[in-house]
Amino acid sequence: MFPEQRTRRLRIKPALRRMVRETGVSVHDLIYPLFIKEGESIKEPIDAMPGQFRYSPDRLSSVISEVVSREIPAVLLFGIPRKKDKFGTEAHKKDGVVQQAVHRIKDAAPDLLVITDVCLCEYTSHGHCGILDRDGGAVENDETLDVLAKVALSHAKAGADIIAPSDMMDGRVGIIREALDESGFEYTPIMSYSAKYASSFYGPFREAAGSAPSFGDRKGYQMDPANVREAMREIRLDVEEGADIIMVKPAMPYLDVIRLAADEFDEPLCAYQVSGEYAMIKAASAKGWLPEDACIMESVLSIKRAGADMLITYFACRVAELLS
Ligand code: PBG
Repeated sequence: MFPEQRTRRLRIKPALRRMVRETGVSVHDLIYPLFIKEGESIKEPIDAMPGQFRYSPDRLSSVISEVVSREIPAVLLFGIPRKKDKFGTEAHKKDGVVQQAVHRIKDAAPDLLVITDVCLCEYTSHGHCGILDRDGGAVENDETLDVLAKVALSHAKAGADIIAPSDMMDGRVGIIREALDESGFEYTPIMSYSAKYASSFYGPFREAAGSAPSFGDRKGYQMDPANVREAMREIRLDVEEGADIIMVKPAMPYLDVIRLAADEFDEPLCAYQVSGEYAMIKAASAKGWLPEDACIMESVLSIKRAGADMLITYFACRVAELLS
């Protein structure tokens, strides 16, 4: 008897193969990102993300029904305002585009979790994730914190269930936690983009949200792809400041970081399969170079196998459909 026959024996019957599977993807793991554009009657396709759209708040009902009927538990909202300025003022307006969308979604589907992305890059005229210093050359960390706290609070007041800061300023989780607690939102969790890399895989998102920086890059506040110990340090700081759910982003090029974070931390771990990861699979499949559905399922499985408890993916609806 050869010991290697044991694994072979367990592979022969499909039912047994399923029984000994170590990892699975469930619809309950999925978070679906949505781009909300200020205006009326808008449903605009996003070129670099085939199958994804920008919706105005009044056009959300059909996509929300689809999400609910597929039993996807959560959506993540990104806002695209009509007006941008140096300070990202539109981001914390009471009737801002995200705030309007939260109201609409909560009215239509009270049990669907609404997560809101807190960042300024979609709202600033220069496209950076924070307020610039006097020379306009670099992001001013501490001034940005106050604005972020205002944004987070305005989302919570609109009815957001979870606040997700993605700006990567130092100290933002603590400031946001404090602002939420002071206003009676002690039970609103923070999902922090803790280990967010300065990645080239965000390209299609920046087209979708019109949020590419007008000069420079985000390397001053997002992480160097070469670093993994730094990721653990960033996550630790976020946890100390009160993050309830931690995140690694992007997902597939950083599976090692997901694994390590899962081993090191007890907090629920989210991974973000970003726009570029989506675009790659869509483009190669459209060319007939990859089998789309099989690649989608393998990619989400790999992220779960690496240790993520939940994942944000533009494939959420398709994954849910394939699972059912
Ligand atoms: C905002 C933000 C970005 C993404 C999520 N939140 C863009 C960026 O940092 O440039 C990217 C998500 C994706 O590519 O799908 N800061």
